[in-house]
Amino acid sequence: MYQFTDDCLTGIETIDNEHRQLFKTINEISGILTDETKSADEVLQSAKDLMLTLKEYAVNHFTHEENYMREIHDPELLRQQREHAVFTEKVNSEDWERMDVSQGIRVLQDMMEYLSLWLYRHILSSDTLIGKMKAVHDNPVMLAFSDKYCTGIDLIDKEHMRLFEILADLNELNREEFLSDKYDAIVDVVEELKDYTVKHFQDEERYMESIQYEGLAVQRNLHQSFIDKMDNIDLSDVDENQQAYIDVLIDFLANWLINHIMKMDQRIPVKN
Ligand SMILES: [Fe+2]
Ligand SMILES: [Fe+2]
Ligand SMILES: [Fe+2]
Repeated sequence: MYQFTDDCLTGIETIDNEHRQLFKTINEISGILTDETKSADEVLQSAKDLMLTLKEYAVNHFTHEENYMREIHDPELLRQQREHAVFTEKVNSEDWERMDVSQGIRVLQDMMEYLSLWLYRHILSSDTLIGKMKAVHDNPVMLAFSDKYCTGIDLIDKEHMRLFEILADLNELNREEFLSDKYDAIVDVVEELKDYTVKHFQDEERYMESIQYEGLAVQRNLHQSFIDKMDNIDLSDVDENQQAYIDVLIDFLANWLINHIMKMDQRIPVKN
């Protein structure tokens, strides 16, 4: 089970408190499911009740969060709404009434496992960016690799530099006015970025393994959630206003990367 840690803080008090409460409830349900002092029937009943509370609380929380994002015109709103829907669907995917006791307990256990991982990844990789997105597409200097992005680990810095380069290429292409096959080229660069990101995460994880870094598991989770996000990019989706869509995409990718490097990668120790 995952816990609420300082890494999860968004700096927005009401949102942080609600996240804390969500983790607490998931852990409470998991605790009930392993309570041996109660009969299986009782266990299932109390776990199911609390599960309904969790569901309601989560739906309310998502509404609060989305309202907040709408108010501040956060460009990530759409992506967040899509992610929140995944949680709600998962919770609604089981028919609790028709389940027998042993099956029900197992299903609930798996679900709590899934939800705590989902929540942990979602908060770390999406919610911590709420209100912090900078318009990188307008400000390409942010994509110039500089000392403030350095980890001091040669291989990792070189690969981060390459990631910034690919993003800068993407941005430049998107600004291009007279290129007739601009969108084909953009699709190619996005593919290149995806492939290189996967390779980079593998290399970075291998390095962390080699020094037995205790933050490896968190990093793996974050990397996977970013790869999932990249896999969900669908450029064929957008016909109208493609340039604006790609602006938002570039901002998201760059902000995620910068945030990840400065919050997570810079903590990886340099091997000596
Ligand atoms: Fe949230
Ligand atoms: Fe969220
Ligand atoms: Fe990383």
